[in-house]
Formats: sequence, C-alpha cells, structure tokens
Amino acid sequence: MNAYGPRAARSRGFAPTPPKRESCSAGNQNIVSKKAYLAPSNGYVKIMKDTGWASIPFEPDALAPIGTIPLSVPEIRGNEWKYVKECLDSNWVSSAGPFVDRFERMVADYVGTEHAVATVNGTAALHLALLVAGVKPDDEVLVPALTFIAPANAVRYAGAWPVFIDAEPAYWQMDAEKVLNFLEHRCLWANGELRNQHTGRRVRAILPVHILGHPCDIDPIVELARRFNLVVIEDATESLGAIYKERMVGHLGDVACFSFNGNKVITTGGGGMIVTDNEAWAERARYLSTQAKDNPVEYIHNEIGYNYRLTNIQAALGCAQMESLDRFIEKKRSIAAQYHESLGSVPGITPMPEASWARSIFWMYTVLVNESPYGNNSRALMQRLADHSIQTRPLWQPLHRSPAYAHAEVCGGEIADALNHSALSLPCSVGLTDVDIRTVTEVIKFIY
Ligand SMILES: Cc1ncc(COP(=O)(O)O)c(C=O)c1O
Repeated sequence: MNAYGPRAARSRGFAPTPPKRESCSAGNQNIVSKKAYLAPSNGYVKIMKDTGWASIPFEPDALAPIGTIPLSVPEIRGNEWKYVKECLDSNWVSSAGPFVDRFERMVADYVGTEHAVATVNGTAALHLALLVAGVKPDDEVLVPALTFIAPANAVRYAGAWPVFIDAEPAYWQMDAEKVLNFLEHRCLWANGELRNQHTGRRVRAILPVHILGHPCDIDPIVELARRFNLVVIEDATESLGAIYKERMVGHLGDVACFSFNGNKVITTGGGGMIVTDNEAWAERARYLSTQAKDNPVEYIHNEIGYNYRLTNIQAALGCAQMESLDRFIEKKRSIAAQYHESLGSVPGITPMPEASWARSIFWMYTVLVNESPYGNNSRALMQRLADHSIQTRPLWQPLHRSPAYAHAEVCGGEIADALNHSALSLPCSVGLTDVDIRTVTEVIKFIY
C-alpha cells in the first residue's frame, strides 16, 4: 500500500524544508523574494499543419487540442447516454426528478453517511455546509493555505474570514500541528467562545481539504475541533473514494462536500454534494438550496434561499458515473503506480506520496521537481512537456499569496510556498494509455 511513502520521497531530496520555528503572521508579511518564484508562463504547443509546425497557446486549464495528451478529461463510456436520454424522453430535465434522489442515495451509500444533498457545484455545497454548520458573518474558519481557492471563497460568501494554515511536508495536506499552534497560542476563550486574539473574531470551524485525492491526516484535527468546540467541514471535492484509516473520506468530520466538475474523478458536467449524518443540517441544506420555499404553492419564503439544486440531467450523468467509480479509482491508482515505477529513480523528481494509513485515489497525479539535481525547475519542465504536446499544470498559488486574500492571517506558509514552487501535475485521465504514460515519462527523463 505504501509504495509512495514519505521516506522514499525524502530520500530523493524532497524540496521543502520544514520551517525552523513556528510562525503565524497576519497578512502578507513574509513575502519571499520574487527570484525564488517563477511566474507560471503560458506554454505553447506545436501542432503539425499542412504548412508545417505551428505553435498555439497551451494554458493549463484549456481544452487540450487533438493530438495532445491532456491533463485530465472525463471518461464517459457507461450508462450516461441512456440515463440522460431517459430525462429527455420523460421531460424531467430540471431540478426535480428521479435521478436527483437516486444520485443522492448512491453517494450517501458509497460514503456511508445518512444523508446527501445535491447542489449545482462543489462551491455551492461548501457555502451551504458552512451556513448549516452555524458559521456566521465575522466568524473565522481555518482553511489550508495550499488548495484551490473555492473553500476560502465559500467562507467569504458566508460573511466569515479564512485563516490560512500551512501544509505539512509529507503528504502536502493541512498541518494539524499548525492548527494546534493557532488555537493554543493565537486564540483565547471569552464568554464561552473561542476568539482570535489578534482580530477579536469568533473562531467557529476547521475546513480541511483532502487535496489531490489524498486524505488529510484528519484525526488530530477532529480531536482539536472537539477540544476547542469547533465544527469540521471536510472539503472532499477532490477525493471521492479515498480512504483514511479504513474510513471513507467525507465521513470523517461533521459535514463534507464533493464536486463533480469536469476534471473530478466522476463528473456531472458541473455539480456538487453535501453529505452528513446530521438530519437537521441536511434538511436545512435542502431547504436553502431550493430558494427556501416554505409554501411552494403560495410562494411563501420565510428566509432568503439559493438556487443551488442540481438538475435531473446532471444527476443522471452522476448516477452513470457512480456505477464506474471503483473502476476509475483502480485506473487512477494504476496510472500512479506506473508513474512511480518510471519516475521513482529520476534524480530530482519526487513521485506523489501516499501515507501508510491512506488509500489515495491519485485524483491529480503530481510530482515535485527539484531543479538540482534534475536540471530544470517545474515551470521549465511544464514548458518542455508542452513542447511535446503534453498538458500539465502547477499547483495553486498558495492562498496567503493570493491578491484576493492579501490581508488574511496565515500560520506558516513556507511549505505551501515550496510545494507551489516545485510541484507539477501530470496527465492522469482515466482514459490514459500505457503509450501516453510512456511518452510523458520519457520526455521527463529527457529521452525525447
Ligand atoms: C479543493 C476544491 N474545493 C472546491 C472546489 C469547487 O468545486 P466546484 O468547481 O464544483 O465548484 C474545487 C474544484 O473545483 C476544489 O478543487
């Protein structure tokens, strides 16, 4: 199981070095010299045309042109057409219909929760999860510094404020020790509430994100949440099917969210899901997601709701995709194993780790590129792969570096910075062939 453990990773010269001392800072105080960070440049891909080779722009999130190896594309080969046709034939195309309930049941059963509420996307699911969990305007929520920006944005939609927590170096997830450090040294109890000493705001929730398909080490985080009377909202959007210590990701905190965006392990085009054992929270999420209708006949609304309900067509896609989920995960794991086998001995390339206590779904297979001894940094390698029509992408700008969160408080941040500097995600679609994988690894090994 642990072919990708941190020991193996470290022995190949893992780039991030842990910070010498614990640091929490308010705002962007510890900006690292620009020289250490190469701005991700948009690559170009060469396409053979009648007139010869032509270069066209090749951006990380753009649709890969034909003839290239894309980063991650959906796999639609099961009952998708059949189920969608059923929606069209029956006229059940909108936000009510049998597939929505069926999709909710399938996801709840898979994850093991009592309830599931389908939403238009993962960001909406996070927004509602924060609301039902009791996060109020001006509260604070702990969010990893290294993640896609959506969870931080959802915190702001709820009127609350994110406090960014650095990643740990072994598996790149939210660092429980830094959570502890923040709660113990930067907060105090006042009238039965935990408050941030620096801002005076109430701290209400921890929002760990299981990034890239690997579970975060969540037990210590849940323990801290219980000790400090906080709720735990899992952002499991990238990790449906991942296992943490024999338990399904999405059933480890108080409430969790999934995304079914086009690049996720299963897709509904766009879509999301809230899962929880808390019946009252599930009911409230359903109520808020359908415009808070108190009397649907007379159109009475006692509260302001949202139009966040998934449509039947999307849910039909979701049901078909759920039928293939286990196969998709097996394929993702086999792609990871092949990358590991080919790249594990390349000096300066660290394969994606997997903890002994985890079963990663390797949603987005990512390596670390250490310029010395590899000879190229991650952005140069991205360009080199683009020159061979291979689409890759760096990890997200750490959120404490994001201009959108310029004044947010951050605990640490150095590991997230180092990972951002050296990480590169490789093609890992379920449909990737052995030849594709060999092409990618041979370019990385400078065989081409
Ligand atoms: C960590 C994380 N959280 C939230 C989301 C938001 O999901 P969606 O795009 O479905 O709104 C995404 C991805 O898209 C994500 O990667």
